Amino acid sequence: MVNTQEFIEGAIAEIKREVRNHRAIIALSGGVDSSVCAALAYQALGPNLCPVYVDTGLMRKGETDNIKRAFRDMPLTIVDAKARFIDALERVVDPEEKRKVTGETFIRIFEEVARQKNVEYLVQGTIYPDIIESDGQIKSHHNVGGLPSKIAFNGVVEPLKYLYKDEVREIARALKLPPELSERMPFPGPGLAVRIIGEVTEEKLRVVREANAIVEQEVLRYKPWQTFAALLEKGTGVKGDVRLHGWIIAVRAVQSRDGMTADVLEMPYDVLRKIASRITNEIPDVARVVYDITPKPPATIEFE
Ligand code: XMP
Repeated sequence: MVNTQEFIEGAIAEIKREVRNHRAIIALSGGVDSSVCAALAYQALGPNLCPVYVDTGLMRKGETDNIKRAFRDMPLTIVDAKARFIDALERVVDPEEKRKVTGETFIRIFEEVARQKNVEYLVQGTIYPDIIESDGQIKSHHNVGGLPSKIAFNGVVEPLKYLYKDEVREIARALKLPPELSERMPFPGPGLAVRIIGEVTEEKLRVVREANAIVEQEVLRYKPWQTFAALLEKGTGVKGDVRLHGWIIAVRAVQSRDGMTADVLEMPYDVLRKIASRITNEIPDVARVVYDITPKPPATIEFE
């Protein structure tokens, strides 16, 4: 990459040159790539940019509010699609099927909005590894920015397509995006749906979202590459004098360079104990907490 400021100026000029005085749409996923892309496109196009955020209900605690706050100066369209996603995921238990269903639901909603808005161009935050990964085919990575659309746009603009993630973060800092966005850990496109084993329900989403917030509060200071909570099955516990058939929460914290391989973060035992105690105390339906000590390979980072 050339220097950051030159890149920013070049990208803005490229977007202006391609889109001219037409209207363009961009999907904000909450991730750093689409955020940087939207910030650049807004500088290039101003009110001719239609940024769209689809609230899938599969995001982490506070994430939707962070996005609203970060992009409050833009004419952001927020689509509340929580009910549509939960309906689409009903009885879906297979991980790849979850990816397919969330990806398709997303694209259908996005197409509806694009038609309503009468836009001619699509701006996407595709980065270099996305292009390489889609040839790799280990998982059908649902990348909100990178899905093909059935809409015939006049053109697709991908200003970040030659950048790596750390370069995108550098641009994010230069653009003064808030650290929740510029330093955001990787988060899968299908969101919490792949952090719930089996069928996704509102109850499970609520539990895993709360547990995840606790895990992040306790683990982020150890600078993991990625950390999160996943919801497994139910198990027996005892709270007060009462036996409880409650949820089992798994805690994951890993170090990695690029997500292709990963080592388990060696967390101090008292931190693990605190996490277990907080999760079981603060979330009544959780009966036990486990720490995943499997590197990748043989395990993947996500549970599904
Ligand atoms: P795995 O679980 O395959 O994850 O070891 C490697 C990295 O990829 C992320 N991941 C995904 N990202 N859509 C995404 O956009 C997905 O379906 C998906 N599945 C996994 C995962 O969070 C980790 O950073």
